[in-house]
Amino acid sequence: MNNRVILESLRPPLSLKYADWVHTLPESEIRRLLRFTPKYYFAGGKPGVLPTDTFKQILYQIADELVTNGINTLNYGATEGNNELRTILAKRLKKRDHVSCSPDDVLITTGSQQTLYALSDCLITPGDIILTTRPTYLGFLLPAEKMGARIVTLPSDDGGLLPEYIEVAIQLCKQEFGTSPKILYTVPYSDNPKGTTLSSKRKRDIIDCVFNYDDLLIIEDAAYKEIQFGISKIHPLKEYDSNNQRIAYLSTSTKEAASLRIGYSVLPEELRNAVIKAKGYYDLCSSELVQQILAIYYDKYIDLQLPMIRQGYADRCEAMINAIMEFMPDGSFTRPTGGFFIWYETRKKHFDSLAFVKSAIDGDVAYVPGIAFYPQNGFAVTEESKLVKCRRPTNAMRLGYSLLSPEKITKGIKALSKLLRKEPTTFPSTSSFFLGKGHVV
Ligand SMILES: Cc1ncc(COP(=O)(O)O)c(C=O)c1O
Repeated sequence: MNNRVILESLRPPLSLKYADWVHTLPESEIRRLLRFTPKYYFAGGKPGVLPTDTFKQILYQIADELVTNGINTLNYGATEGNNELRTILAKRLKKRDHVSCSPDDVLITTGSQQTLYALSDCLITPGDIILTTRPTYLGFLLPAEKMGARIVTLPSDDGGLLPEYIEVAIQLCKQEFGTSPKILYTVPYSDNPKGTTLSSKRKRDIIDCVFNYDDLLIIEDAAYKEIQFGISKIHPLKEYDSNNQRIAYLSTSTKEAASLRIGYSVLPEELRNAVIKAKGYYDLCSSELVQQILAIYYDKYIDLQLPMIRQGYADRCEAMINAIMEFMPDGSFTRPTGGFFIWYETRKKHFDSLAFVKSAIDGDVAYVPGIAFYPQNGFAVTEESKLVKCRRPTNAMRLGYSLLSPEKITKGIKALSKLLRKEPTTFPSTSSFFLGKGHVV
């Protein structure tokens, strides 16, 4: 050993004090499950019906253009996004989604996950209250909790959020916390994790209630708006916000194109400027090359490809529903009309789907335990209009049908049903193989 190596070995190891959230919040359950590659992957919302031939054509075209425009394509771009892509998306958002906007109103981010994070970052000071459904998308939940938000969850049924509980929640928050909620987060089309869609009546009721409060922002996450099996017209909540003042509307190319990590949003002006500032801190700008690829896709190809994409997911959804009815009839489940997910609840309330993940992965099946879609330390407005601590039921699973072929889905649900029959139905919840350091259950 030379002297330098001896000296290194005598030095004490680095001892850092981390920010509190590093210990108190878990890694996203979905991110964790992405490390495993079982044969039957029903975990993350990975797109599996992809227009690969179209992207091959686009890549050839882009490759040719590199000769003349390489300096721009391979360079940093504006933080708010590539102008051509924003112009094409603004036109499409107006025509398809009835969102009144100009190219300047459209903001490009690195996945819509970045918009969700930036919205929490820009809006939440510790103690602020967020209303959302129970269960809700963990990609919003975890950043909001990281920023110190108090999450107040509202009841939902197979038609999604129950609007009558919004007013109840606002009044309860004023009474119990002495302050009003700041944000209502909702995924109106084929939500994640349950796959439910709001009716026109529910959307109107939400607007009628929320627009009475000038300090309550709606975050409308329209990630699955294009993946609708029956309807072709999109009527988002944002349609009611013609002055662009009350609703942050966001969507993503991930589900309707490919997971190229590009999200797009239309935010009220002041909020948009704050989010652009935050994005400048996170990553300066999203990839110019990828934005140019998507500009071509959204301009020329998306409407030619969407029927094939929607049909592909509809077939997978149907295969999963049929397989659940055949092999796992002893439970309740949602029947989505779009999107990527089915929410399955076992009748045995003490079944621990988090602990069972280990057996499932050993048996070549992955799903996301339902507990991941409830806040760590949140609150619940009950059906009896009481505000209580939010319980995190253990008997649910989110089953994603987006990645695998209908044949594989059938085989995978059969394999899962066999594993479920073999296993004891209750587990001590601390036995979980998946609890990260500091994961509070
Ligand atoms: C409801 C919802 N919002 C946002 C996202 C994040 O999407 P992106 O891939 O654009 O970051 C997802 C991803 O699954 C989602 O389901």
